[in-house]
Amino acid sequence: MEHPGTDREVPVGELLTGRAAIVTGAGAGIGAGIARAFARHGARVVVVDVDGARAAAVAGSVTDAGGEALAVTADVCEEAKVAALVTATLEAFGRIDVLVNNVGHYLGGGGPFVDSTPQDWSALYRVNLEQVLRVTHAVLPAMIRQGDGGSIVNLTTVEAFRGIPHHPVYAAMKAGVVQFSKSLALDLSEHGIRVNDIAPDVTRSRQLPYERWLTPEDEARIPSWVPLGRLGEPADPAGVAVFLASDLSAFVTGTTIHCDGGTYAAGGWYRTSHGPRSWTNRPHDP
Ligand SMILES: NC(=O)c1ccc[n+]([C@@H]2O[C@H](COP(=O)([O-])OP(=O)(O)OC[C@H]3O[C@@H](n4cnc5c(N)ncnc54)[C@H](O)[C@@H]3O)[C@@H](O)[C@H]2O)c1
Repeated sequence: MEHPGTDREVPVGELLTGRAAIVTGAGAGIGAGIARAFARHGARVVVVDVDGARAAAVAGSVTDAGGEALAVTADVCEEAKVAALVTATLEAFGRIDVLVNNVGHYLGGGGPFVDSTPQDWSALYRVNLEQVLRVTHAVLPAMIRQGDGGSIVNLTTVEAFRGIPHHPVYAAMKAGVVQFSKSLALDLSEHGIRVNDIAPDVTRSRQLPYERWLTPEDEARIPSWVPLGRLGEPADPAGVAVFLASDLSAFVTGTTIHCDGGTYAAGGWYRTSHGPRSWTNRPHDP
């Protein structure tokens, strides 16, 4: 099923002119949206993905549109690849002003914690938290040396703030990202480097292919499920990322912007089928 508006892009502007930005996991979904949005605001973008073809396609779309992009094939869970990523960025653009740690994944269907294994926990740690520490640690020396600030944006999830059944370790790792960001923001404040998070929900991407998952009945219920009445698109968190990367957010650090159409605010509340002003917290309706 096609969803109108999926290809929406953030408006063109000049908020990031001259800045160099690394976006991890930028070959698809939210990361691709952020990379394109940064380029539309004048940034030189490093499009990093473990899938080289995807990274090249997004970087190509940026250059086709007149922007500047470097595709880097790298698994951000691998230390040597991350070191090479920083070297390649500095060779290409001479500096790093913005880092978006976008890679993250819930790694499958989940299940009762009692049935999970330490190997499962390690895999979730590697892809959701450890690589955020690693990439940030690798980028910071250059960012600090530059001496004129910077912005780090980490992708967490709504589920770092509420629970998610059968995915307690994923939720814990994403909550770890939030606490890391808050405290790192304090550490880096002396350098003028800001650290903030984006907490998305219900945003169409490669990881969350709602067009394949949703039945027509589910589609009809989106207004009861998402207060703003639609699913998210990569352009939604991308707009937030442009704000957090730019000087518009110059006094914003150590916090999270929820980009979820209101699902976190709604908590257990749902709009009913009786009209836009009718809500319930009783699960039998809807
Ligand atoms: N889509 C949503 O609604 C949603 C909700 C909550 C949180 N998030 C978070 O937002 C971020 C982006 O999510 P998405 O849905 O756009 O993801 P996605 O899976 O659609 O895209 C992620 C991209 O990252 C790449 N990637 C995966 N592992 C990598 C690695 N180790 N090294 C380099 N590249 C790697 C993939 O190849 C893919 O191109 C994630 O951190 C995710 O947890 C998304």
